[in-house]
Amino acid sequence: MTDLRDKYIQAIAAAADENVLEDLRVQAVGKKGEISLQMRELGRMTPEERQTAGPALNALKDEINSALAARKEALADAALDERLRAEWLDVTLPVRAQRTGSIHPISQVTEEVTAIFADMGFAVAEGPQVDTDWYNFDALNIPGHHPARAEMDTFYMHRAAEDDRPPHVLRTHTSPVQIRHMEQHGAPCRIIAPGRVYRADYDQTHTPMFNQVEGLAIDKDISMANLKWVLEEFFAAFFEVDGIKTRFRASHFPFTEPSAEVDIQCSWVDGQLKIGEGDGWLEVLGSGMVHPHVLRSAGVDPELWQGFAFGMGIDRIAMLKYGIPDLRAFFDSDLRWLRHYGFAALDVPTLHGGLSR
Ligand code: PHE
Repeated sequence: MTDLRDKYIQAIAAAADENVLEDLRVQAVGKKGEISLQMRELGRMTPEERQTAGPALNALKDEINSALAARKEALADAALDERLRAEWLDVTLPVRAQRTGSIHPISQVTEEVTAIFADMGFAVAEGPQVDTDWYNFDALNIPGHHPARAEMDTFYMHRAAEDDRPPHVLRTHTSPVQIRHMEQHGAPCRIIAPGRVYRADYDQTHTPMFNQVEGLAIDKDISMANLKWVLEEFFAAFFEVDGIKTRFRASHFPFTEPSAEVDIQCSWVDGQLKIGEGDGWLEVLGSGMVHPHVLRSAGVDPELWQGFAFGMGIDRIAMLKYGIPDLRAFFDSDLRWLRHYGFAALDVPTLHGGLSR
């Protein structure tokens, strides 16, 4: 019996994998295994012989079973160690310095704007770039005959004469997202809607496609004072200048009443533009209290709800912040320009990590 014991204990200790262990288990303690066969012999022994051989065989069986279990566990541990060693990866290594692509300043600024407004509780909403003239104009209190339609240099989608679907336009502003959002979600709401807009216009400060960000806050008691605070918080964070001054000039938009254009404080020293100091002003957005007709078009009761809206040029504020002189360069896809004004792909703007580094 000691021979049997030594044979199996040694073989188990030397087993290289689970298959070998399983074979050993069958050979030793399986139904027709050596130990099982010897146990069958017990019947032929004298009672005295059986009294010593029986417990000895049982003990041997237990010993082999626990040796098998122990070896199985050791093999599994070794396999895990091996995997951990083979798949080891140093995540603290720096990324390759090589920079093949960069983030476009418009994408960067859109992320910055989103991070700042998200911090003030604004969600991001979206709408289509090709929209019906109802969303782009009528619902925003700009009826067919209104001069604002002509002023907007609208691109109309081509329609065959017999096509009786409603006319579609390339949206001339992000304001139709106000209507779509309120239609779907009602009031109260607090959103921004960044995106592309289109107008037939082209010179140093105008391109036929450009970017805006719409803001909309509707609740029971929202006023122009809230608009002013939100915008001042935004400009201070965006331009990274505390206490930046804003100037509200009375204006007119069909979709807001009252309406205001907003300027930010700046100075020109030796041809250098500085934001947030001096006594010059730069216009950056249009805004106002959402017109009751607009709320009604979007299914929101103007007797119960009120709020502000604004529309800001993303390209404009990107030019101001990053000192980009010509708007047209944004859309030229000139690689040297992109390398100069682009941002590293891993620098995600956040308020705690810094908006722009
Ligand atoms: N939609 C206006 C524009 O494109 C801007 C604006 C938005 C003004 C919201 C007031 C309120 O000029």
